Amino acid sequence: MSEPNHNGIDSFRNNLKSIIDSFASSFLRSGKPTSDKSRASAMFNNFFLHVQGVKTHMNTLRPTYTLGLGLISLFLLLITTVSGVVLMIYYNPSIENAYNTVKDITYVVIGGSLSRNIHKWAGEGMIIFVLFHMARVFFTGSYKKGREFNWVIGIALLVITFGINLSGYMLPWDQLSYWALVIVANIIQSPKEITDSLGITQYFDVGGFSKELFLGGLNAGKESLTRVYLLHVMLFPILMFIFLGVHFWRIRKDGGLTKPDSFEPQESDAQLFSPPEKKGGIFTTNKTYGLMELAGGRTPAVDKDVENTVLSWPNLLIAELAVFFICFAGVVVYSFFIDAPLKELANPLIPENPAKAPWYFLGLQELLSYSAFMGGVGLPGIALLGLALIPYLDREQEHVGVWFSGKQGKSVALQALLAGTPVLVGLLAFVISFGWFRNWWPNVPQLLITLVNPGNLWVVFMMLWSVWVIKKTGSTRMGAIALFTMFLVSFVILTYVGTELRGPNWGFYWSHSQWPPH
Ligand code: HEM
Repeated sequence: MSEPNHNGIDSFRNNLKSIIDSFASSFLRSGKPTSDKSRASAMFNNFFLHVQGVKTHMNTLRPTYTLGLGLISLFLLLITTVSGVVLMIYYNPSIENAYNTVKDITYVVIGGSLSRNIHKWAGEGMIIFVLFHMARVFFTGSYKKGREFNWVIGIALLVITFGINLSGYMLPWDQLSYWALVIVANIIQSPKEITDSLGITQYFDVGGFSKELFLGGLNAGKESLTRVYLLHVMLFPILMFIFLGVHFWRIRKDGGLTKPDSFEPQESDAQLFSPPEKKGGIFTTNKTYGLMELAGGRTPAVDKDVENTVLSWPNLLIAELAVFFICFAGVVVYSFFIDAPLKELANPLIPENPAKAPWYFLGLQELLSYSAFMGGVGLPGIALLGLALIPYLDREQEHVGVWFSGKQGKSVALQALLAGTPVLVGLLAFVISFGWFRNWWPNVPQLLITLVNPGNLWVVFMMLWSVWVIKKTGSTRMGAIALFTMFLVSFVILTYVGTELRGPNWGFYWSHSQWPPH
């Protein structure tokens, strides 16, 4: 038998003592980042971090540029995902049990109510922050310079964000869920308005077919809940994470975020960022990387003005952590005080009056009250297509990375706001006070209302205004700014009207307190 190896025992003891340190350095592969080189390699070699560059442009880190909105959207998504998994432990997607399990989560399960609130508010927060993020990207012209396709990916993310929220709204199977499901089914069925007007529904009932496909039958029932559940926990999340993967990969390949050509570091930047060890750091060239010698075509652009970059570790990571904690704290505090609603068990015999979709769809529901097809399919389709095409219709490459593309853009946006608001409010006030064609001529053909209704008139006005701006300024970017500003105005005003000013039978009320008791 050989002698016991004391060195072996000693090194085992030492290994045990330093287990935490060695685990931490194995996690970062290159050990604790203590020099510029190891900081760079910590970013480069980490699976989660390497989607970001080793160095980050100072402009990206200025809080006034991105406002952290994309990151907030991402963190809200992560919070929603984690809290959603907690809810899945108890939730049962059958019409017999769904409501009771949500009730249990809310009133019986320890921490259940908080988890449900966090899930609900982080999810709905995403809608607001994704819209804000889109507005930031738009107003800084960041859909240009190779980022056109990423903008289109962004539009897909926007749609998925709405879809994932809407499908979740239906899961508790209370009165709110059930009647929202009915409204959505009616929206999906709305092409019937056209096929009925043309008298071809019996041959080509695309509306009826889509509705049945969505509900899993003629009416909302157990198959519908299964389908909505599938959309909520499987289809939309998978699509969301795939598109997000592409979204971030594209940002990386585009050389990070946009920045103004005229970027000049300021004194305040020096206080904000931790400087590299020596000027120029370890990456002092303007080279791009990629298989340039072997493959033709475009290569990923790496920061061209390399002097204005700082190491991502720690500068970017600290900023990201700060945004995460603020975001997390905000959601938890909000969820602590405000409860997610839960009404009575769904009852197909007692319609909610007004039966409303969730708030983020109430702008559409307002348009729907003028024409089911235009409100449900036509106008949202035009809006999404219009948004997706922005980078292809406006190809001017100047002033990228500058808010509103400068002074002129600011005044174009302001004019669009000041002109659009009274026109839209006036149009809505007119419809509310005097009605529309059907109220004046009860037998008017539906097709005429589909073609000429307040929603369509408003869209035509926005387009004409934008074309006029292009003509006046000679710039497609200015036309796009005018149109996009009016799109935001429409979303806000229509959502407000649908949420606050519409009561029973979709009548107009100044406030909830005026609703007749029922
Ligand atoms: C789930 C939704 C989304 C998430 C989580 C997300 C996340 C992000 C993040 C973290 C960034 C980098 C930092 C920042 O700009 O804050 C970014 C950049 C970008 N996003 Fe999104 N985004 C989403 C939706 C959208 C939408 C709706 C659009 C536009 C329609 C969009 C277009 C872009 C573009 C073009 C960039 C690059 C901007 C630049 O170069 O300055 N994203 N996104």
